[in-house]
Amino acid sequence: MNVLQVSAEIFPLLKTGGLADVAGALPGALQSVNCQVRVVLPGFPAIMADLTDVHVLAELNAPWGEPLRVLYGRLKTLGVNAYLIDLPHLYHRPGSPYEDAWRHPYADNHRRFALLGWVAALLAHGLDGHWQPQVVHSHDWHAGLTPAYMAFMHHQSMRVATVFTVHNLAYQGVFSPASFYELGLPHSAFGVNGVEFYGQVSFMKAGLYYADHITTVSPTYAREIQTPAQGCGFDGLLRTRASALSGILNAVDDAVWNPATDPHVSDHFDADNTAGKARCKATLQADLGLSVQADAPLFGVVSRLTDQKGLHLVLGALDAILSRGGQLVLLGTGEAHLEALFKARAAQYPHAVSVRIGYDEAYAHRIFSATDVTLVPSQFEPCGLTQMYGLKYGSLPLVHRVGGLADTVVDCSLENLADGRANGFVFDDFSQQALERAIARAFALYARKSEWDTVRAHGMRQDLGWQSAARQYAALYQHLCA
Ligand code: ADP
Ligand code: GLC
Repeated sequence: MNVLQVSAEIFPLLKTGGLADVAGALPGALQSVNCQVRVVLPGFPAIMADLTDVHVLAELNAPWGEPLRVLYGRLKTLGVNAYLIDLPHLYHRPGSPYEDAWRHPYADNHRRFALLGWVAALLAHGLDGHWQPQVVHSHDWHAGLTPAYMAFMHHQSMRVATVFTVHNLAYQGVFSPASFYELGLPHSAFGVNGVEFYGQVSFMKAGLYYADHITTVSPTYAREIQTPAQGCGFDGLLRTRASALSGILNAVDDAVWNPATDPHVSDHFDADNTAGKARCKATLQADLGLSVQADAPLFGVVSRLTDQKGLHLVLGALDAILSRGGQLVLLGTGEAHLEALFKARAAQYPHAVSVRIGYDEAYAHRIFSATDVTLVPSQFEPCGLTQMYGLKYGSLPLVHRVGGLADTVVDCSLENLADGRANGFVFDDFSQQALERAIARAFALYARKSEWDTVRAHGMRQDLGWQSAARQYAALYQHLCA
């Protein structure tokens, strides 16, 4: 089965969040279930720099007339064959792939990401005479136009199936109606039955409307987005597409996230021997100027600082952590007001709170290795990866029962403890009080060391690998191609 994966990011070359982790892990995982995966990506500098054995596959004019090249080669870091869109004037911009230094989305984002979908559709249509996908699997709004373009490219020698994965419905790729006329789609596509969304163009809507099948990154999120509360305006459309919508839970790339082999952590450990974890904690506490106390529960946050992540609840509950003798370490970047509030708390309690604003892959690994609890109190969470990284690294996740968090974390209630299923702490109401009660539960379990150790070992031993998800995607591809 030939699969073309379409995404804007790919770990480890370019990452702003979990999308990149998934895009980086899937090609390898799918390989093991007999899918030959090639990827198509925008030619961002970090991705271009990794491409070897390059040749020019095609020289084309974009729908709005601009000349570009499609390069083919091999991403050496990933060992994956890739098509890159070479148009430096659109992609060679430092920093975020989506925004300028002032965090404003680039004004030409519709062009930058329309090209991604357009080139993917051309590849589905036979642009590469040596290889053609049977399935085109595109991810999030950046790649949302892929199935729309494919729907309008007729005369295909072979029917190519389309899968569109929603990683986050809140980011919708909405552009002015004027931008529609640059996209090269037929006029009929600008309507309710098409890419139009409340008078604008939405790339997310294009994916949701035109794809043969929609997946979300957890089963619970697939249900949630069919409700007005979580549908971000698409719930009606998603209900009409319910029979073509399913959730496949994300997983963890063991080659990247494994405390027994991780090059970023100060000491290695596993479920059978956690002495290294205790050393990771002491080292981090010392390095950050926190009190070096083995018995102070250390809470960790690694997150984009956006409203989605519910971190104002953590600010509110911080006193509940500190008054019980706990500590907090945070790594994140995002909204200025959240950055400022967390920095102020760190300045107030330098021996108990450490806040680093920025993006730092290696430091994220150190935090999971050193902390006792990983906080993920998100208001909504399509899947969430950090709670799973917490599980792997013996940092029990404490989460709001929503989306993929609900699908991966089992609360330490008495019955779940008795059944041996518990692996973390879960709260239902999205409120500071509910978070504080879950924090209290974490402290209570922490005080019962042997029970804590049992729960932690269970979490660390859970199979969170990509095999199951890869099998589900492969089965879906087979079904769509049948
Ligand atoms: P989302 O994709 O919504 O941001 P996920 O939990 O799925 O949430 O994935 C977040 C990914 O980004 C994880 O790999 C996490 O470790 C990483 N991450 C988030 N913020 C930072 C940061 N400031 N520095 C390093 N890694 C980060
Ligand atoms: C999105 C979601 C997150 C998910 C990630 C990877 O960024 O916000 O919940 O884990 O994509 O699928």
